[in-house]
Amino acid sequence: NLEVDLTKSITKIQPTMYGIFFEDINFAADGGLYAEMVKNRTFGFDAPLMGWSQPNSNVHSLNKESGMATPMRTSENTNNPDFCRIIINNDKGYQILNEGFRGMGIKKDAKYNLSLKAANHNNAIKKIIVQFVDADKKVLGETVIVPSSTSWKDYSAQIIATGTEAKAQLKITFEGTGTIDLDMISLFPQETWNNRKNGLRKDIVQLLYDLKPGFIRFPGGCIVEGKTLENRYQWKKTVGAVENRETMINRWNVEFKNKQAPDYFQSFGLGFFEYFQLAEDVGAQPLPILSCGIACQYNSGELVPMEELDPYVQDALDLIEFANGAVTSKWGKLRADMGHPKPFNLKFIGVGNEQWGPQYIERYKVFAKAIKEKYPTMTIVSGSGPSPDGAMFDYGWDELKKLNAEIVDEHYYKNPEWFKENAARYDKYDRKGPKIFAGEYASHPKGVEDGLKENNWLSALTESAFMTGLERNADVVHLTSYAPLMAHVDAFQWAPDMIWFDNLNSYGTANYYVQKLYSNNKGTDVLSITKDGKALTGQNELYATAAKDVDKKELILKLVNTSDKAQDLEVNLSGQSVDSKGKMILLTHENLEDYNTLAEPTKIVPVEKEYKVSGKKASVTLPAYSFVVLKLKMK
Ligand code: AHR
Repeated sequence: NLEVDLTKSITKIQPTMYGIFFEDINFAADGGLYAEMVKNRTFGFDAPLMGWSQPNSNVHSLNKESGMATPMRTSENTNNPDFCRIIINNDKGYQILNEGFRGMGIKKDAKYNLSLKAANHNNAIKKIIVQFVDADKKVLGETVIVPSSTSWKDYSAQIIATGTEAKAQLKITFEGTGTIDLDMISLFPQETWNNRKNGLRKDIVQLLYDLKPGFIRFPGGCIVEGKTLENRYQWKKTVGAVENRETMINRWNVEFKNKQAPDYFQSFGLGFFEYFQLAEDVGAQPLPILSCGIACQYNSGELVPMEELDPYVQDALDLIEFANGAVTSKWGKLRADMGHPKPFNLKFIGVGNEQWGPQYIERYKVFAKAIKEKYPTMTIVSGSGPSPDGAMFDYGWDELKKLNAEIVDEHYYKNPEWFKENAARYDKYDRKGPKIFAGEYASHPKGVEDGLKENNWLSALTESAFMTGLERNADVVHLTSYAPLMAHVDAFQWAPDMIWFDNLNSYGTANYYVQKLYSNNKGTDVLSITKDGKALTGQNELYATAAKDVDKKELILKLVNTSDKAQDLEVNLSGQSVDSKGKMILLTHENLEDYNTLAEPTKIVPVEKEYKVSGKKASVTLPAYSFVVLKLKMK
């Protein structure tokens, strides 16, 4: 028997309790959420023609036959100095192809908006023919651009796909002989989230929106830090006109086992303005994390000297102005010019990702002082370092406590057993210390780290057990997010991930549904739920948390059974009565090894049922391996 007193609110649950961790890893931005279909549209990759091919030419003999593409670099536009010069020698059908991000996903009858910049030397090229083709070179839609200017000019056109294909390519052929320069060759589906021109993939944002996230942390992860300081994420380079955002190698550009991504670069088309806008769209608090002047301590660990830290600190202050400043301020004006005069209402800012040691503390202090002096109400999130066994990022607290740090970001990627054993992790936590941001966590079943992408039911179930402990301790745990958020099925460097997608479809894993159930049924106040006076933290493989929503007048019980047998529970409800009719949401699966896939995206999904309470007793049978949410209207 469990006891719940509906009148005894233990603590408030922060509106930010369940959020999203976004990082451009696993093709999450370019090739994923950002709906651009052309890879290397500005020819700005380190190998400038990466992503492009010239199938009927021989580059090594300079393709004297039909034509040739040559990467060019000018000193005129320092942000986007690269373009491509095409020389057409004859009418033998010289063409260039763009391979997209592991192909381009096109849907029959859907419209795709093409744009490019061209300078047509002597107006020699009469037509640019742009087509979707499949692997057999079958044409699946086309459009024609007539390049009418000898100097740089913008052109746009639309292609309507005549077929559905997950791995189409974009073929460009030319009519006429002569030279033409091309740049910023871009293609977006017309249908995007909120129908924003050149915006975000609708299906993926919908999955995020459905989570009802309390916050979005961006832009990562390790990507914030960079392998070297030069490679760190610099938000100022990601705002303003898209074509002027300088392409940079992605920190997750790797050549390792099955995680190959030598073609992983950041276009920054999804930049800080777009992140703020996304946060607003999905009703989440923006939570940007900035470089603290230390590159990834697992890589170079490069440090900016203390006397050169100012520009980093200034970046943080300017970001706050960009988000919240008046339109008359320098950075507030840029926000307004980009289409958002209203402030983004930024309340949190993170200083450093996974950082530790005296070097971090030294730098953190300078940031904290400068931010608080200018923006006293801004809440600062600080990072933490690896624990002595190197497995988790929850270390370096002593100094942060002394400095009265407000929120510390802890990360844990651990095995399922750890998640069960740590359901009481925060029960004994110092109530006077900084609050917790469980900023990255995921249960990693054995083998998955090595590149398998399955998010099996065992991982999700054990996360649901662990999360009872996060919620029960909502007085200290203020923000939480699963990580990483998403991955392309053909281009991932890290697994498990919460959402998987290819170029046409996306789906939520069992872990996604656990997050969604917690976030959608959060409540406003934690109530105590006890067995013999103690919280349920794994006794008989059972876990529980209770909350009420004072606005909706609802009691919400979250109950987890990690055992292989069904278990009966009786919950005594005291203090206030409830309606006899309620709702039970059940997430369960008989096979712990099973997982959702693109082909079977709904194998493990929540099922809703009617639920009846008799008097003050809620009786419930928890099936084996189950996570149950009970919702009862309070009278
Ligand atoms: O989520 C993947 C990586 O894990 C993040 O970039 C980093 O913060 C952590 O080590």
